[in-house]
Amino acid sequence: MPKLNIHPAIAKLEKRIIALRRHFHQHPELSFQETETAQSILAELKGLNLEVRHPVARTGIVAVLRNGNGPCIALRADMDALPIQETGDRPYKSVNDGVMHACGHDGHLAILLGTLLALENSRDLWRGTLKFIFQPAEEGPAGARYMVEEGVLKEPKVRAIFGLHLWNYQDFGTIGVKAGAVMAAADRFTITVRGKGGHGAMPQGTVDAVIVAAQLVMSLQSIVSRNLNPLESGVVTVGQIHGGDNFNIIADEVTLTGTARAYREEDRQLIKSRIKAICDGTAASHGAAIELDYQDGYPPTINDPAMTEVAVQAARQVVGDGAGDPFRSMGGEDMAYFLQEVPGCFFFIGSAKPEHPEGAVPHHSSHFDFDERALTVGASMFVEIIQALLPPSG
Ligand code: NI
Repeated sequence: MPKLNIHPAIAKLEKRIIALRRHFHQHPELSFQETETAQSILAELKGLNLEVRHPVARTGIVAVLRNGNGPCIALRADMDALPIQETGDRPYKSVNDGVMHACGHDGHLAILLGTLLALENSRDLWRGTLKFIFQPAEEGPAGARYMVEEGVLKEPKVRAIFGLHLWNYQDFGTIGVKAGAVMAAADRFTITVRGKGGHGAMPQGTVDAVIVAAQLVMSLQSIVSRNLNPLESGVVTVGQIHGGDNFNIIADEVTLTGTARAYREEDRQLIKSRIKAICDGTAASHGAAIELDYQDGYPPTINDPAMTEVAVQAARQVVGDGAGDPFRSMGGEDMAYFLQEVPGCFFFIGSAKPEHPEGAVPHHSSHFDFDERALTVGASMFVEIIQALLPPSG
């Protein structure tokens, strides 16, 4: 494993950061319901020389720390947990039935608070303005979009923003940083096929919605294989099909739901328009009515090249050779909304426990856990980035 270089200002706070993480883990809350979480954060901020805005986007918090003249850099963490019943046993197991921090956002909060405490206490390390963004509702409802709409990137105007994800798909001791798209656009669609039902033995005169739906499922798979540039990436998944009433009745209605993913906005638009064309063409060729409800989800998460270079240098400082390309997936992330507005970088802190060499526990699983040593790695990254962008002599 590469040699770690935990920032001294963070190393001092390690116990506190771990304790914070465990507290958040034990008290998880769903998207836009993070009221106790917000109270815990506010309690930590009490008595510090900060400007605090709360509530922002219902349950979010923005804390501004000023230290002389200089630009404003924002650091962001997400606050919400998932509707999952935690399995397994540990002293800080979730006390909220059916709710669990199964993605690591408890760790993100602890990292951001640890960074804030360290930089508030070590003002000789930097000069300028820091904006700490505690963002609700990453897991679906786009809390970041509401925060942008409520002006969190203004007054003072944010020049660059950074965020991170603890990442069990990478070993502890690694940091994944990459320019360009690192998370996908994540859209959702519902297709309703309306035909004309009838007796299963007498198909003449009917329009079989099951046949039409089956053809749709197969045709949709041709978008990625035949329309998308093979050097780019996309996914079209049909996850649900519902229709029909009995084995001997020709169904008159079938509903399909699915998700479409892409890294590039143009590929996203291509996939979207091809889904529409396939629906229209299939409807015409079968004499069915097909309705497409396509809902745009999170945009692709795109890192700015210059800010990514700052993060790469910070990663080398913290984990040396452990810095490299991230494990990428077609997952979505609402950090994308901030990165649409200001340059920045979203990076990945390897958090797989070494005792799971066959691959760590996946995110969003009921026994999710990560290597807590990754917390000080993440916080050191934030401190290194701030020192690079806001040097005390600058
Ligand atoms: Ni997450």
